[in-house]
Amino acid sequence: MLRAILKAGIATAAILAASAALGDDDTVTIGLILPMTGQQASTGKQEQAGAQLYIQQHGDSVAGKKISLIVKDDGGAADVTKRLAQELIGNDKAKVLMGFGLTPLALAVAPVATEAKVPEIVTAAATAMITEKSPYIVRTSFTLPQAAAPMAEWALKNNIHKVVTLVTDYGPGNDAEKWFSDTFTKGGGTVAEQIRVPLKNPDFAPFLQRVKDDAPDAVFVFVPSGQGSAFMKQFTERGLDKSGIKLIGTGDVTDDDLLADIGDPALGAVTTHHYSADHDSPENKAFVAAFKKANNGLRPNFMAVAAYDGMALVYGALEKTKGASDGDALMDAMKGASWISPRGPISIDPATRDIIQNIYVRKVEKKDGELYNVEFSTIEAVKDPFKAAKN
Ligand code: PHB
Repeated sequence: MLRAILKAGIATAAILAASAALGDDDTVTIGLILPMTGQQASTGKQEQAGAQLYIQQHGDSVAGKKISLIVKDDGGAADVTKRLAQELIGNDKAKVLMGFGLTPLALAVAPVATEAKVPEIVTAAATAMITEKSPYIVRTSFTLPQAAAPMAEWALKNNIHKVVTLVTDYGPGNDAEKWFSDTFTKGGGTVAEQIRVPLKNPDFAPFLQRVKDDAPDAVFVFVPSGQGSAFMKQFTERGLDKSGIKLIGTGDVTDDDLLADIGDPALGAVTTHHYSADHDSPENKAFVAAFKKANNGLRPNFMAVAAYDGMALVYGALEKTKGASDGDALMDAMKGASWISPRGPISIDPATRDIIQNIYVRKVEKKDGELYNVEFSTIEAVKDPFKAAKN
């Protein structure tokens, strides 16, 4: 407890020093709120590194404004996320809020963003409806329907007839389950069972036994970034890697951050996602090399690239507004923005403020002794199908 208080004190002092230019019109403060501790700490680490790399590469001023990035740790607790958002706006005069490692954390900030008219850039959370909760929310991560529906299309064309779904039981898992299952059954496939596991400290073993007993052609999996190793460990311990049941899912389970730790049991897993560290483009090769250099060889994952792009979105918007940083001007500038990300071409749908991006079908393979999600097929410019279905 005392250590925690001391740590908090030091963090506060650092933040006060960083925001010495309080209220200074020449500074645009960005509050990056992330889980830097707790179950989702890998998301925080990747996102912070992604945002910092962008600033390192592009300089800390744009359109005559100095950029000040303040990173705050919410420990993955929604009430803390909300309080930090209020403090960043009230005390630090933040003009942009960014981050949010889990859906409930992003949702907790939506009313704060609306009331203060401050853009909330969601760079991690991925439940489809998040962007509908405030006109000031814009997203550079992805949505689960965007990634899961293409997985069903691929399975239907690749001799997979019977599937069991296994997802973490909250917003993004429920989206993944629905959009995979609906697309798969519409195309003639059978979903034998839909299994949901708890978000907090999950024990996958009993659920994996049920998958084994159902003997499907494949198990479709969504677990949030950071949980893939624990899942794959139990997948292997239960003998599912040798059962002939194919592992498919959204790319969260074969997260680039974890692949080395998971090891050979991941080989052959097919997933659909918007980013692989192995993505073959000059922009990505430069990004991966610079990220590794700045972070002791750490491999960037899809969280890192979303935070990097979140910063790109802010820089691009400030250029368009010629440095004006009121929320409405920034939001207008962000709508319809498009650029080449390390993940490929992306844009912000002006109607929904959600990201439009390629979804890649990938298979885990070994390249020069290291495991990668190797992309082998591309579905171009995918909009979030949840919102597309409503419009
Ligand atoms: C979410 O909580 O929205 C979330 C977190 C991690 C992921 C995907 C979605 O990998």
